[in-house]
Amino acid sequence: MSHEEFQNHYGPVALVTGASSGIGKSFAELLAAKGLDLVLVARRVERLDALASRLQGDHGVEVTICQADLSGQMAAAQILEATSSLDIGLIISNAGFGVKGEYASGDAGTLADMLMVNCNTPMLLAHGFLPRLRARGKGGIIFTSSVEGLIACPFSTAYAATKGFLNSLGQGLWGELAQEDIDVLTLCPGATDTEALVLQGIDAGTLDDVMSPDEVAELTLANIKNGPVYVPSEHYKAMFDALLSMPRGDALMAMAANMKQEI
Ligand SMILES: NC(=O)c1ccc[n+]([C@@H]2O[C@H](COP(=O)([O-])OP(=O)(O)OC[C@H]3O[C@@H](n4cnc5c(N)ncnc54)[C@H](OP(=O)(O)O)[C@@H]3O)[C@@H](O)[C@H]2O)c1
Repeated sequence: MSHEEFQNHYGPVALVTGASSGIGKSFAELLAAKGLDLVLVARRVERLDALASRLQGDHGVEVTICQADLSGQMAAAQILEATSSLDIGLIISNAGFGVKGEYASGDAGTLADMLMVNCNTPMLLAHGFLPRLRARGKGGIIFTSSVEGLIACPFSTAYAATKGFLNSLGQGLWGELAQEDIDVLTLCPGATDTEALVLQGIDAGTLDDVMSPDEVAELTLANIKNGPVYVPSEHYKAMFDALLSMPRGDALMAMAANMKQEI
């Protein structure tokens, strides 16, 4: 798709949550390079300000900053209200975080926040933006999920469950909107070299086939029409296809053994 075609379908404005680092920042950079105006959402507003200045200078696009903690009950409503006057054609629900380790040793408050950030806010954002996309008659929604959402993952149990929710949400919406000109893509990255790995205490050097966030974002935008689910890494696609073809108990035991080495 040319930049002009992309802009016509998904512009003039795209919204990216989790734009202060990693995959979300890469999405923002690529969309600005395609000439789309942006709404950038995250908590670390100083990072969003710096990114906005750079993208405005480099690409001449307009960037609106929306500081929001997506673990809050009202986060989606806050974003919908703050963007009510903007013609947003692409919503990238990308913000998220994970917790690795034994399930019972996880902090209950953190697990509850993860459910809000990874599931509740993306669900309510899609619910709020869908009538606006329908009124335009075109556009798209991307959910950043994870390969862990394709099955389940011991020692990343709650995170994988949140991504399983997102996979189901994205696929259901894809099915509802398949006859309309609104694309829904559920992105399932494998290991990606972002701050998320550091935050979870994972050494990227111990992982196979780690992709860069730029690569993940670029491939995803190129495959936006190839839903319902998109796995950018050939390595992780083959691995999870194999796991899904195994008896489920065997697959979970294999994943448990693998995760114990990582954490
Ligand atoms: N890296 C991987 O290996 C990998 C693999 C599969 C899927 N993913 C998924 O990819 C997405 C992006 O993660 P990443 O790898 O790019 O990690 P990252 O660099 O840590 O970025 C996470 C982003 O989410 C935002 N965020 C987290 N909690 C938030 C909250 N409570 N409110 C608002 N924003 C919040 C962060 O912004 P602030 O901290 O500034 O708020 C940040 O911009 C996530 O959904 C993650 O689950 C990552």
